[in-house]
Amino acid sequence: MSYKIAIDGPSSAGKSTLAKGLAKALGYVYIDTGAMYRAIGYYLLKEGVDPHDEEAIKKVLDKIDVTLDYDSDGNLHVYLNKEDISKFIRTESVGDAASVSSQFADVRSKLVSLQRKLADEKSCVMDGRDIASNVLPDANLKLFVTASDECRAKRRLAEEKEKGIDTTYEKVLEDLKARDYRDTHRKLNPLIKVDEAHVIDTTDMSPDDMIDDVLKRFF
Ligand code: DC
Repeated sequence: MSYKIAIDGPSSAGKSTLAKGLAKALGYVYIDTGAMYRAIGYYLLKEGVDPHDEEAIKKVLDKIDVTLDYDSDGNLHVYLNKEDISKFIRTESVGDAASVSSQFADVRSKLVSLQRKLADEKSCVMDGRDIASNVLPDANLKLFVTASDECRAKRRLAEEKEKGIDTTYEKVLEDLKARDYRDTHRKLNPLIKVDEAHVIDTTDMSPDDMIDDVLKRFF
């Protein structure tokens, strides 16, 4: 039986840093479900399909094949119809297209069945918004990762600056709040903390601190 760790939380709270670190330390695979929704968002933008248009999305879903793979350093790569699109999906516009299109049942069911299949194959750390509540309700360990709005916006701003994107703290904070609102208020599988989840507040934690903290407490 594979061991499953479910990590949920809002954008830029440190989920992927924690998930990657735990997967490395424990020898598990890391499954980034946000990257899968981003792959669909990327496809929609590339093909000129409006991410708000459920009917138009339904018509193209069969043409979208999303897969994950790992290179020799263990880094995750996301493929859209066999093309490695990992480099193109970390933009604000792809994140927004993912957040908007992820509200639709057909988008979610396509990706959720793939996510469950991957989790059954190998012990994994999976991060997203609905992992403990919906994708892996039987996960062995459930974590809810959070951080203050200010801290998340500062982290996001630093990432954007590193990528050479010209933006401001206010713009980043506004976008984060809009994304939080959409992800927590959609009808289907919104972001929630399940009762059994342990809260990890990463506001004053470095990446190593959060990974060490979880390893010490639960392993
Ligand atoms: O974690 P992220 O920023 O890469 O996710 C992008 C969007 O995808 C997020 O705003 C909402 C959606 N998403 C989702 O609906 N369910 C998940 N399990 C993961 C992401």
